[in-house]
Parts: sequence; C-alpha cells; structure tokens
Amino acid sequence: MKVEHLTEATFGSVVTDIDLETIDDAEWRELYDLWIERALLVFPGAFLSAEGQDAFARRFGDLEFSRAALSNIGKDGKVHHQNDDEVVKSLRGNEGWHIDSTYMPVQAKGAVFSAEIVPSSGAATGWADMRSAYEELDSKTRERIADLEAYHSLYYSQGRAGNLPDEQNEDGTYNLYGYHDMEVSLRPLIKTHPITGRPSLLIGRHAHDIVGMDPAESESLLDDLNDWACQPPRTYHHQWDVGDAVLWDNRRLQHRGTPFDMTEPRRMWHTRIAGDPSSELALNHHPDTVPSDDVERHPTGTWAC
Ligand SMILES: [Fe+2]
Repeated sequence: MKVEHLTEATFGSVVTDIDLETIDDAEWRELYDLWIERALLVFPGAFLSAEGQDAFARRFGDLEFSRAALSNIGKDGKVHHQNDDEVVKSLRGNEGWHIDSTYMPVQAKGAVFSAEIVPSSGAATGWADMRSAYEELDSKTRERIADLEAYHSLYYSQGRAGNLPDEQNEDGTYNLYGYHDMEVSLRPLIKTHPITGRPSLLIGRHAHDIVGMDPAESESLLDDLNDWACQPPRTYHHQWDVGDAVLWDNRRLQHRGTPFDMTEPRRMWHTRIAGDPSSELALNHHPDTVPSDDVERHPTGTWAC
C-alpha cells in the first residue's frame, strides 16, 4: 500500500494501491496502526461492494449498524430537496459538527463511509481533530473544563437546528434511530482514547446542559469550544468522487456534512463500528442498557448521525 499523509491538517492519510476487500492480516494490522495514528484514512476509488464495506468495517470491531444509505434519494427514486422534507431535515442536521452516537448509551468507535452517487458540486465531508484541539487549548480553559460533564441528545441537536421529525407518536416520542425514550447520555468533556491514552475534546452538536452550569452559560461555552476547535489546521474536508471510501476514528474526530443542491441526487453508504462499552459507555448508562432492536429505520432508510 502507498500512504501519503495530509499535509494541511493535523491528522489524516490517503491510502492507495490496496484492495480493502482482499487484504491479509499483516496488511490489516498495518492499516489498523495507521488508523490509530492518523484517525482518518481516505481510500480514493475503493469501490467497495455492499458486503465488502461491512466486512472491512467488521475487522475493526462489531457493528453498531451495517451499511445504510445516507441519501436524499427515496425508496421510490424521488429526490428529496424541499426544506420541510423529513429526509432533508435529517441530512441538514448532519451539517453541524458532531461525533456519531454520543446520544446513545455507547458512542461509536468509527465508521466506514463511501460514495456511490455524488452531486456536481458541494457535499464535501469534513473532519476535525479533537485531540489536537485539546492539546492546543489555553491552560485556563483546559482547567475550567477538566471535570465538566455534558448531556448528549439528538432531540437537542435536531430541535435546536429546527430539524426534528414531523411524525410523532401520540406521546411525543419517535420510532426512529437515536430518538429512544431513555435516559439522556451523560459524558465528560474530555475523553481519553482507549488505545493511545491521549485526551481529546468530547463535544459537538449533540452536547448540551453541562452539569451544574446555567443553561445559557453552558450553551455559550460549548458553542465557543466547538467554534474554536473546528478550525484549520485541525480540519480537513474531502470532496468526493464516486467510489471513494474513508475510515475514521470517532473517538478522536468530529465530522460534518456540507451543503449541496438537493435537487441533485446523492447517495452515500455508512457502516457504523460500535464503541467498546469499557471506554465509550455514557457515565449514566449500564453496559446492559442497549436500546431495543425494534426501532425503525427512517422512512427512507436514513439514519441519525
Ligand atoms: Fe455523523
């Protein structure tokens, strides 16, 4: 395999001359070590098959869920583009910087993400290095946040952005992934990476209501941290070509989608690698607290991010 580190960001490498579906254990080990070190691996023109994407992701751990579409193309082929459309709202929510599944009892370990249909412009995916952000924080802020904990909720993030789903149950709950009626996950603002032992900021759009802090002050602090953290050289945006795939470490990086003309079709495929309860479990959840498996996929197959 050929590896080129991204020079404009504090993380990330481009890997070529590799077939992700046929790598042997020695190549995988090399790739795993590179992933731990670089957090984001970009594989241009990988053209993963459906089974191949999940099988590759499974080498890094159990799956939180297998390959699912992130797309504005409905099951009937309709391209969803209107602002009040359910699919559009779900996709728009992803345009805020976030860490996947921090609103779940166990946050995700990582993801494999690939491009099948890309629009003519826009729609880059961005990542931001929360390890570097923590390391670059001024000492006063670092001390201020050292022992703080915040709640993480998809109700909060989608609601704040005006993107809550329309269809509710009679009691105001939803039968959608991430909108489970369970205790809201509580997480420290600083997370230690289970493999590297390095600390990073655990923030993003789902974080709200720091314990013991006035809500407005909490929102202001979290907004300031997010705004500051997600700036160059800690960010990288990938402009997709059909067939590209990436693998990222969700324990270190935030990510986001970026806007595009939603009258154009786009279809991405996302396989989410489950976190390890020993290091990714929320402070207020028990390892046995897993959501029931009866939640439905979004009507179009879109999942929460
Ligand atoms: Fe996401």
